[in-house]
Amino acid sequence: MYKVVTKRFLNDAKTICLFEIEAPLAARHAQAGQFVIFRLDEQGERVPVSVADWDREKGTVSVMVQAAGRTTKMLHTVEQGDYISDFVGPLGRATEMEGLKKVCVVGGGVGCAIAYPIAKEMHKRGIEVTFIGGFRSADIVILKDELKEASDKLIMCTDDGTYGEMMKFLADVTRPYGISTIISLDPIMVDGTGMCGGCRVIVGGETKFACVDGPDFDAHQVDFDSLLKRAAFYKDEQDRAAQHICKMTGGKRNG
Ligand SMILES: Cc1cc2nc3c(=O)[nH]c(=O)nc-3n(C[C@H](O)[C@H](O)[C@H](O)COP(=O)(O)OP(=O)(O)OC[C@H]3O[C@@H](n4cnc5c(N)ncnc54)[C@H](O)[C@@H]3O)c2cc1C
Ligand code: FES
Repeated sequence: MYKVVTKRFLNDAKTICLFEIEAPLAARHAQAGQFVIFRLDEQGERVPVSVADWDREKGTVSVMVQAAGRTTKMLHTVEQGDYISDFVGPLGRATEMEGLKKVCVVGGGVGCAIAYPIAKEMHKRGIEVTFIGGFRSADIVILKDELKEASDKLIMCTDDGTYGEMMKFLADVTRPYGISTIISLDPIMVDGTGMCGGCRVIVGGETKFACVDGPDFDAHQVDFDSLLKRAAFYKDEQDRAAQHICKMTGGKRNG
């Protein structure tokens, strides 16, 4: 069991919440760009979320989670001091930073939580960081102060559209200029260890597994059309599942 040491909503709309979890082994090895998979209980679904921060001495890892559907809504009802059943990681490859001098890190909505540790680590290593954050509206903006500290220049803007579409358009903008563009993909994942094939993406005409080959990939090589189609594949089931959160407990479980 893994204890929730801190719980804190990151915006006025309470759509994204930070959870600091006691997980000494994961904390010892976590790096920017990696993710963990948590389960609320033994019957729960496995949910991948990025490592947002870590404290190796305290033995904690923080994640920032948007209430997107059934399980993430249930997680938002978990309180400080409660326990969750599984917290496995770190998984995936850390973001490559070797040789970089000047970068632009772009995040949309909860994607800013995914991008934040990467910008922070790059800034710490002396790489010049411009951070562009996109949000649909002001009440859902997160991490403004933290992103300011993690970058040389911060540009916050509001946008419309999904994060997947935003990544696709970003790749289209940088392609003609030959600007190296790395994106962190978030396809459906199940085991997170390269066994199930659930997270497969086509990159440069080859099939890759985002959980072990990524989640970072060359944006100019990613087949976004198949990626966006696969992301919408379980929409009906996800909508149905979201209607079935236990009405007596709100899905909350205590350890
Ligand atoms: C590597 C990676 C890092 C991620 N990092 C974060 C993060 O830091 N913060 C955050 O809030 N979210 C993150 N996500 C997305 C998060 O996993 C989904 O929002 C979550 O699984 C939704 O589960 P649900 O049951 O609440 O919603 P559902 O109703 O099941 O789904 C809601 C949305 O989440 C997507 N989704 C559902 N299940 C999965 C799954 N197993 N894997 C990936 N996507 C799924 C669906 O395509 C759908 O768009 C990340 C995903 C990946 C793969
Ligand atoms: S999540 Fe199963 S292969 Fe990547």
